[in-house]
Amino acid sequence: MQILDGVAVSAHIKSQLKQEVEQLKANGGKTPHLAAVLVGNNPASEAYVGSKVRTCQELGFDSTLLRFDTDITEAQLLEEVQKLNKDKSIDGILVQLPLPDHISPDVVINNIDPSKDVDGFHPITQGKMLLGQKSFLPATPYGILLMLEHYNIDVTGKHCVVIGRSNIVGTPMTILLSRNANPGNATVTLCHSKTKNLKEITLTADVIVAAIGRPKYVTADMVKEGAIIIDVGINRIADATRKSGTRLVGDVDYEDVAPKSSYITPVPGGVGLMTICGLMKNTLEAAKQH
Ligand code: GUN
Repeated sequence: MQILDGVAVSAHIKSQLKQEVEQLKANGGKTPHLAAVLVGNNPASEAYVGSKVRTCQELGFDSTLLRFDTDITEAQLLEEVQKLNKDKSIDGILVQLPLPDHISPDVVINNIDPSKDVDGFHPITQGKMLLGQKSFLPATPYGILLMLEHYNIDVTGKHCVVIGRSNIVGTPMTILLSRNANPGNATVTLCHSKTKNLKEITLTADVIVAAIGRPKYVTADMVKEGAIIIDVGINRIADATRKSGTRLVGDVDYEDVAPKSSYITPVPGGVGLMTICGLMKNTLEAAKQH
């Protein structure tokens, strides 16, 4: 079993990005500038946005964090997005999800300028990706592809089972794994909460991408010997042995599954860090295009 080490891989990618930005600036190019929008004070969202902003600083990107109270209206938030769309200094816009219930994430995402959609959530971005046209890739699936590339894991002809059908992870992951590209050319099955014979299907998987949002959902009895395990989940569970009283676990029962796997991503220290790499690569690309 080999750990797919998000700490090491993301450090490698970030050092490449840092060099590229230095060169871009030295050649008179634009400093990539990411705007992050955070509504409310959900602790997980605070942590994610904080680490995106810190990564910008680390790489020599500019960043702007816009914070709004939970009672901001949808119309007001759309106005703020429009300001960012028009602001020529901004290359990438990310609106951290989830948003409060009175704001439609679809409406907000649809109003982001697709040329600044570095999260890869806009319908135009996802439509282009679906058709195999050049586009930003959704940050998490992009990060997973970067991880597979780094370890020279070829998924051609392999059976990849994606568990979870969200617009931002599961569904785009199935498209990217099955497209005629590298990485790609896998045979893909999409499973979700209503799948009846999940275990039967996962037992035939060469690769499992777990993105269902349920702690320790994938257990060893669901996994074929030698499978590659990509765990997208970030779930906080109670743990009385920790000072904080909680700890993070993935959608995979790591201790149970790891001995059976050929490769596995840990949580934390796996896919989460790769998502930020995907986002940063998209932001650099946006700056080049702008
Ligand atoms: N919420 C959970 N994951 C993400 C992400 O990758 N981007 C944004 N904007 N919100 C999220």
